[in-house]
Amino acid sequence: MYPRKQGPPSPPWTDDEKEKHYDYSKNKDTHFNNPYLRFGALVFVSLSLWLLVLLLWFPPKTRPIAEVGVDLVQKPQQQQNVHPHLIRTTRNPNNIKTSTAATVDTTSTSKSPFKVPTCDPSLSVYVYPLPAKFNLGLLNHCHALNLYTDMCPYVANSGLGQPHPKLGSAALWFATHQFIAEVIFHARVENHPCRTLDPTRAAIFYVPFYGGLYASSKFKEANLTARDELAFDLVDYVQSQPWWKKHKGRDHFITLGRTAWDFMRVTDGPDFGFNSLLNLPAVKNMSVLTVERQPWKGSNQHGLPYPSYFHPSTWQEMVAWQNRVRGMDRPHLFSFIGGPRKGLEKAAVRDKFIRQCGESTRCMLLKCGSGASKCHVPSEVLKVMTESQFCLQAPGDSFTRRSTFDSVLAGCIPVFSSPHTAYTQYKWFLPGDESTYSVYIDEKSDASKRIEEELLKIPKEKVTAMREKLIELIPSLTYAHPNATNLGFGDAVDVALASLAKHVQKII
Ligand SMILES: *[C@@H]1O[C@H](CO)[C@@H](O)[C@H](O)[C@H]1NC(C)=O
Ligand SMILES: *[C@@H]1O[C@H](CO)[C@@H](O)[C@H](O)[C@H]1NC(C)=O
Ligand SMILES: *[C@@H]1O[C@H](CO)[C@@H](O)[C@H](O)[C@H]1NC(C)=O
Repeated sequence: MYPRKQGPPSPPWTDDEKEKHYDYSKNKDTHFNNPYLRFGALVFVSLSLWLLVLLLWFPPKTRPIAEVGVDLVQKPQQQQNVHPHLIRTTRNPNNIKTSTAATVDTTSTSKSPFKVPTCDPSLSVYVYPLPAKFNLGLLNHCHALNLYTDMCPYVANSGLGQPHPKLGSAALWFATHQFIAEVIFHARVENHPCRTLDPTRAAIFYVPFYGGLYASSKFKEANLTARDELAFDLVDYVQSQPWWKKHKGRDHFITLGRTAWDFMRVTDGPDFGFNSLLNLPAVKNMSVLTVERQPWKGSNQHGLPYPSYFHPSTWQEMVAWQNRVRGMDRPHLFSFIGGPRKGLEKAAVRDKFIRQCGESTRCMLLKCGSGASKCHVPSEVLKVMTESQFCLQAPGDSFTRRSTFDSVLAGCIPVFSSPHTAYTQYKWFLPGDESTYSVYIDEKSDASKRIEEELLKIPKEKVTAMREKLIELIPSLTYAHPNATNLGFGDAVDVALASLAKHVQKII
């Protein structure tokens, strides 16, 4: 069994904006010396009392506070009367239309509805100026960074990849590669308000190594010394820095856009092409942020979201998308996007899912296979997910999937069949109570044989509440545009830095 977590994660930063905002008491004395004002106040108080009496006599129907909150952020959507579904089917049947910036009144002076992160000294992050061979220099060989994919289009735009106009505005929507988080993270931290250029003031030290791109470029390297060479060079570099010695690297961290398994080669067993980065003693002293932690040996590893396709620069863009997701028609009860995996035990459940989905009239199956499959086209993926209530998330080559984060972005409730697909992975990002935002159907349970029946059992109100929870989670699972200067919400990088800073304070 995996350990249960306590409580939902509230944003790890504090919100001291609020108090400043309500401090309007400064001039009250001088105003009350004015007789006109005094008379006005008397009239006002009398009227108020009268209203109060009326109110007590005929109490209005009360509404829960949560509902009122939802109405506030929904406002922009009401101005936009065209239903998203209609736009799609009448004008552009193959595209999902998601360009929404225009639906929000960005000229208004309204305040962000999100808790906005702030910087304090415990959060100041120093970025090591690593020699280029550890990060940007690797991008010069972008054709050779991955055996299966030419990474050149994907490393462009600070790792966001190419704009994907079928999804919407070229400034917000990109065909982002699933294993590229380390590049986006680097660009975002370089522009981050909590960054310090002075290592003596830093609380955490970021080592911006593109380990995932390096790993995938060496999968075919038979000479193990050559395969591990850059990893050894990296630890030589950090250990020679004066800042390392103070805490033996415990205030240092790296981020990896690939799963931890790729960096934990074992000596007894087949060679999958992995390197030994995470086995090195110096790296074991650091914190490792990775899209998939090794659940049993990864005590210094912390889950980092996979990047999806949405990279907004302002809170208004975020609110517009959240409203959009909330209003989607969802004709499919559930969907599965994925392909079968041969001979992988943890992926056996995929065959079950694919068969059941294919047999159900309520399921939308987007099967991945060889050839021109739609399942790698971001607009096709999001189209299916925004039209479904539940999205099956079966493990594949590893426990986790980028698809989980696509489904949150689309407001499609994830259905997990292994605790290691999300629950044991992303503790800094996901609520402790898993049932508030997801469904768990164990791969070995009887329920996994009749998924449709299980999903139909969930009451409608519960489904709505779960979706609302997911929509709330979108900002903190999103990688904002790295050039954004005034986001007005906390994105995945903000959550990672704040959570890491807390963690480092505890362990040093
Ligand atoms: C961010 O801004 C810089 C400088 O203006 C620009 O060169 C770069 O392309 C921008 N990055 C992205 C992802 O748009
Ligand atoms: C393996 O790689 C190392 C480092 O690049 C090199 O020094 C060594 O000669 C190589 N060994 C073989 C057998 O090619
Ligand atoms: C890792 O931390 C331990 C305990 O503080 C220390 O003894 C060791 O030297 C550190 N390793 C490296 C490579 O700095």
